[in-house]
Amino acid sequence: MALSICFFLFLSLSFWCNALAASHGQPSTPFLFPVTKSTVVPNPLRFFSPRLLSAPLPTNSFFQNLVVGKGNEPEYIHPYLIKSASSSLSLSYPSRLSNSSLISQVFVPDLTITSLNKTSRSAIPNTRHRISSYSDLSVTLDLPSNNLRFFLVRGSPFLTSSTITRRTTHLSISTIHAILSLSSDDSLTKHTVNLNNTQTWLFYTSAPVSFTHSISQIISSEFSGVIRFAILPDSKEKYEAILDKYSSCYPISGHVELTKPFRLEYKWNRKGKGKLLLLAHPLHSQLLSRNAVLEGFKYKSIDGDLVGVIGDSWALKLEPVPVTWHSIGGIKREHFPEIVSTLREDVDALNSTTISTSASYYYGKSVARAARLALIAEEVKFPKAIPLVAKFLRNAIQPWLDGNYGGNGFLYERQWGGLVTKLGSNSSSEDFGFGIYNDHHFHLGYFVYAIAVLAKIDPAWGRQYKPQAYSLVADYMNLGLGSSSYSYYPQLRNFDPWKLHSWAAGLFNFSDGRNQESTSEAVNAYYSAALLGLAYKDNHLEGIGSTLAALEILSAQTWWHVRKDDDMYGEEFTRKNRVVGILWANMRDTKLWFAPAEWKACRLGIQVLPISPITEILFPDAGFVRELVEWASPSLSLSGVGESWKDFVYALNGIYNYTSAVNNIRKLKVHDDGNSLSNLLWWIHSRRR
Ligand SMILES: *[C@@H]1O[C@H](CO)[C@@H](O)[C@H](O)[C@H]1NC(C)=O
Ligand SMILES: *[C@@H]1O[C@H](CO)[C@@H](O)[C@H](O)[C@H]1NC(C)=O
Ligand SMILES: *[C@@H]1O[C@H](CO)[C@@H](O)[C@H](O)[C@H]1NC(C)=O
Ligand SMILES: *[C@@H]1O[C@H](CO)[C@@H](O)[C@H](O)[C@H]1NC(C)=O
Ligand SMILES: *[C@@H]1O[C@H](CO)[C@@H](O)[C@H](O)[C@H]1NC(C)=O
Ligand SMILES: *[C@@H]1O[C@H](CO)[C@@H](O)[C@H](O)[C@H]1NC(C)=O
Ligand SMILES: *[C@@H]1O[C@H](CO)[C@@H](O)[C@H](O)[C@H]1NC(C)=O
Repeated sequence: MALSICFFLFLSLSFWCNALAASHGQPSTPFLFPVTKSTVVPNPLRFFSPRLLSAPLPTNSFFQNLVVGKGNEPEYIHPYLIKSASSSLSLSYPSRLSNSSLISQVFVPDLTITSLNKTSRSAIPNTRHRISSYSDLSVTLDLPSNNLRFFLVRGSPFLTSSTITRRTTHLSISTIHAILSLSSDDSLTKHTVNLNNTQTWLFYTSAPVSFTHSISQIISSEFSGVIRFAILPDSKEKYEAILDKYSSCYPISGHVELTKPFRLEYKWNRKGKGKLLLLAHPLHSQLLSRNAVLEGFKYKSIDGDLVGVIGDSWALKLEPVPVTWHSIGGIKREHFPEIVSTLREDVDALNSTTISTSASYYYGKSVARAARLALIAEEVKFPKAIPLVAKFLRNAIQPWLDGNYGGNGFLYERQWGGLVTKLGSNSSSEDFGFGIYNDHHFHLGYFVYAIAVLAKIDPAWGRQYKPQAYSLVADYMNLGLGSSSYSYYPQLRNFDPWKLHSWAAGLFNFSDGRNQESTSEAVNAYYSAALLGLAYKDNHLEGIGSTLAALEILSAQTWWHVRKDDDMYGEEFTRKNRVVGILWANMRDTKLWFAPAEWKACRLGIQVLPISPITEILFPDAGFVRELVEWASPSLSLSGVGESWKDFVYALNGIYNYTSAVNNIRKLKVHDDGNSLSNLLWWIHSRRR
């Protein structure tokens, strides 16, 4: 059985594959929530090759736009934006539009690739592409009627295409610019195209080809084989020599292995001769061993400069983060009485509380809020409160796991392979689009947090509901989990193993790709998964959860947090913003889904909540935290910015000014629905070391 699991995982993520044979204490019988037929998910058969449908499908991936809607919105595969429409693939080396409220990359079809041969094939409409395979680091897009295949590998400076069959094809490459010149070398395998927008493109062909061109279109002689397209980002000869040197080795897919906690390895399958040249984004560069980087070979990107790296595998190593139930530094005893007296009130109030919402997000926040009270009680030595919290949690959580909660519940959706809520199964707007796979890690992260705590304080309950608990976490963070049963879910629903953070957007087609707003809720999802691992003494689960939490934190710090002296986003944007609102694959926005850009306290708060022991790892730099607080504080007085956002501004203030924050926190009368005064007092007193 272990062998077949390893085989199944081979082309995609694998985690300690050879250790899977040993039981990690996972339940032996998989748990599956009741099956439903969703009326709102799109039919995956329109774009996926039928043979891919036997496995759960990705729902928040870097190529999602290619498989939802009409399949014709662009996607960013670094350094190119690509777009598939009308039986052709267009690529763009995007320029950046930037002002103080928005940064975006503009899609301009610099080259549009198709063939003159059009053969109509059985079931595939002429104009539609097909995804013939995908992996963690690539997607393969076919235009069957044109006999063309594209190996879309992330971070490749070359866009690689090949004919699908051995039959020859006349390639057509058109542009919206004007073609100033086209020249080929003596071997007719390297071709240089100058456009009137100052761009120079190099085409490398695996066999001799001759081209003819008009002002806007290039036609090839009959061709069969591989053709690669690369922009010369700078007219420097050095760049051209590097592209020449690495032009004949091409990647066709790539996967990620998390071999040990806080380490990951990329491995690409490649073809052709020579070594593989790919591009690393700034976070890769930070985590890669230095010697692998090709200094001075750069492509621009909304995510920062991409630099060349040689080799068909990369090792990334990161600093471990501590995953703990309680505050990392502890709380001085002198503060216990204040926390205990508040805790007594918060816990007493649970006795008369029934959660008034049935929405999965808010419900999840309510149970996670209550679960914090039990852990705080442990920390401040107030054990009397714990059974009361446990009772509340059992009553609140169990109906969702038993399937007898009246207002909502979890169901299994087979077409894409994953959980949906009852409310989401026939509505793409209920539960914030949970039914079309939006925000799963946020909602489920809160449930998993509460379940982890309950399993810790009531181990008998934990044993009874272990299969359900694993099913919830596997929906967003699967990686095999040690049992083939978890082939019910994709390997990682939200986490992007190339970009190194999560996406939330589900099966919506958005012209700027996937997006994520709250990095702190994403961190919470992986931190909670790691806590579940702690609760069940499952090192494997703890290891994956901690590793993904650490990566999500690094990504938040790299791309969401904007320090005054950063150069990631340019001067104008950096001057006005200390944090990004919604980060899209192809855009940085300062507004939120629920608030305008001016409501900075909301923009900051959504990157802080929920407050838990991992929060201090997300915000380790007191100097930057001061920048954040000074930037956001004035907006607290704007009408529209609710009182409860003070929770997060004051909590951050406490990182560098205990006295001022503790005074402000004591005066607060209302709190975020996932927070409590007990939790704020626990936080602020644990800042004082
Ligand atoms: C998404 O796809 C639907 C269905 O094809 C279409 O009506 C809608 O306009 C698309 N939205 C965007 C933003 O492209
Ligand atoms: C920034 O650019 C966007 C898109 O072009 C525009 O809608 C917006 O008004 C601009 N904002 C500012 C502050 O100039
Ligand atoms: C494309 O057309 C050429 C002739 O124009 C032909 O030789 C070739 O076989 C055709 N290829 C395919 C895939 O139909
Ligand atoms: C380049 O050519 C295109 C298409 O002919 C034309 O629309 C555009 O204005 C030209 N651009 C420049 C900078 O000459
Ligand atoms: C909880 O509430 C019930 C009635 O609603 C009451 O009988 C019970 O004593 C309360 N328990 C505690 C510990 O306050
Ligand atoms: C979804 O199903 C429920 C229960 O069957 C029904 O009340 C509701 O109107 C449906 N919603 C939509 C959008 O079809
Ligand atoms: C902390 O805040 C108080 C009140 O705003 C201020 O008086 C004090 O100088 C601050 N201390 C530090 C270290 O910033």
